[in-house]
Amino acid sequence: MTPNRRALLVASVLLLAACSTGASPFAATTSTSRPEPTTTGAPTTSTTVETTTTSVAGDGSGVGDPYFPELGNPGFDIEHYLIDLAVDPVANTIEGEVAITATATGDLDAFHLDLLGLTVDRITVDDHPTAFSREGGELIVSAEPPIPSGEGFAVVVTYHGTPEPLTTIGFPLGWIDAGDITYVVSEPDAAHTWFPGNDHPGDKAAFTFRITVPEGLTAAANGSLVQTLPGGAVTTFVWEMPEPMATYLATVVIGDLDRVERPAPGGVLLRDYLPADLEGQLPSPLARVGEMLEFYAGIFGPSPFAEYGHAVVPGVPGALEDQTLCIFGREELEDYQAGPFDPSIEEIVAHELSHQWYGDSVTPATWNDIWLNEGFATFAQWLWVEHDLGRAAYDEEIANTYRLLDSASHPLPGDPGPSGEEMFHYSVYLRGGLTLHALRVAVGDDALFQILRTWADRYAYGNASTADFIALAEEVSGADLDALFDTWLYQEEMPPMP
Ligand code: TRP
Ligand code: ZN
Repeated sequence: MTPNRRALLVASVLLLAACSTGASPFAATTSTSRPEPTTTGAPTTSTTVETTTTSVAGDGSGVGDPYFPELGNPGFDIEHYLIDLAVDPVANTIEGEVAITATATGDLDAFHLDLLGLTVDRITVDDHPTAFSREGGELIVSAEPPIPSGEGFAVVVTYHGTPEPLTTIGFPLGWIDAGDITYVVSEPDAAHTWFPGNDHPGDKAAFTFRITVPEGLTAAANGSLVQTLPGGAVTTFVWEMPEPMATYLATVVIGDLDRVERPAPGGVLLRDYLPADLEGQLPSPLARVGEMLEFYAGIFGPSPFAEYGHAVVPGVPGALEDQTLCIFGREELEDYQAGPFDPSIEEIVAHELSHQWYGDSVTPATWNDIWLNEGFATFAQWLWVEHDLGRAAYDEEIANTYRLLDSASHPLPGDPGPSGEEMFHYSVYLRGGLTLHALRVAVGDDALFQILRTWADRYAYGNASTADFIALAEEVSGADLDALFDTWLYQEEMPPMP
């Protein structure tokens, strides 16, 4: 049986809408492209990206990510973003003031921020207005007087305009005006289309959002709603995300939305944001999230964040695991039709939840390690199936997945292609997930679950690489696992079914 292309896509990237129109690059990559012959015998990204002036070659325009070399900026680490936006959802414009606090990691007489499009009105460094220039996605700021290495400093960028989406992975990413609802989906590289910063997962920071919208509308963002400030014709919603967050996970959702709260399993506040026309009725695939949370907290360790929930919005192909607030396509929740090789919609809900541990709390150091997100969330989704439906259902998922991968060549999950275009290829999800199943078979359940839990705990709120994971798996299990990871992640030939 040959699965149709759409089924492949859905199984992998949790897409529906974009693929059926053929608009997604996944449509091209999944069926037609062949992987480059592998050259790697071992993981190549063993260290986190150092954001210092000395570690980065070239002009300081990026931190040298293998897929997005211009993103991020050397010479400083950001600790906190205050993102203050006044939003006109009808005109689709924002007036922004972003206050960044950072620490210099080298002597700085100038530094870059990532920002693409929009008009910059004014920048201050430590309250002094300063000169700046722009080159593509780089905002180049002078530091006058220079900032010595180790010093803290504050930058405030005032800007305005209409954020323009990018189509890096084949459908619009960034600030999306969907008519009645405005929302953000940025992974991997679109955060710098709506706010200035270090748009690379290696520089995580705490966030505060102050989102001002016309009266009657609601604004949700990451973290906890701490204040709602009425202001006559407008209302300001203040959200706090105290735990470090990668820029690609920052989100804002604006519209006529209802907030629906549910009992809090394990103390985690469950709150969803639904379009008002749903009249507070939770789409049924979201019904078991509390149970899923308890299950995952039991095996992965306590939830890394105090709150969780979904914002249901139109037009998202699949769902995106934004920290504490998953952005879920409404069409998926209401009309999902699973093909023979597709996960159920409930599995997708579980997949996204599991990213809170794997991806959001523990974040890849570089984008070519994306299997640490997607392979883990896929494996987590199979664990939910095992928990809910029994071991035979898990075994069937594993066998189907293996057959699917074995039937066609595909990019390697540990190194999915030379650019970012194939980073969400189904192989990153499925062969990445099978890598963890192979590990389970090799080391046994006790060691496997100890590895997953230690991974979530040791690198909580930080960054880690594939090499860090292999080292940890070897440390916990006492086994030599280089060959296992090498064949599953880096060698073209499919290893035998574990
Ligand atoms: N990380 C998503 C997942 O869980 C895939 C994805 C990447 C995505 N970028 C997106 C989904 C933007 C929606 C919008 O599989
Ligand atoms: Zn995912």
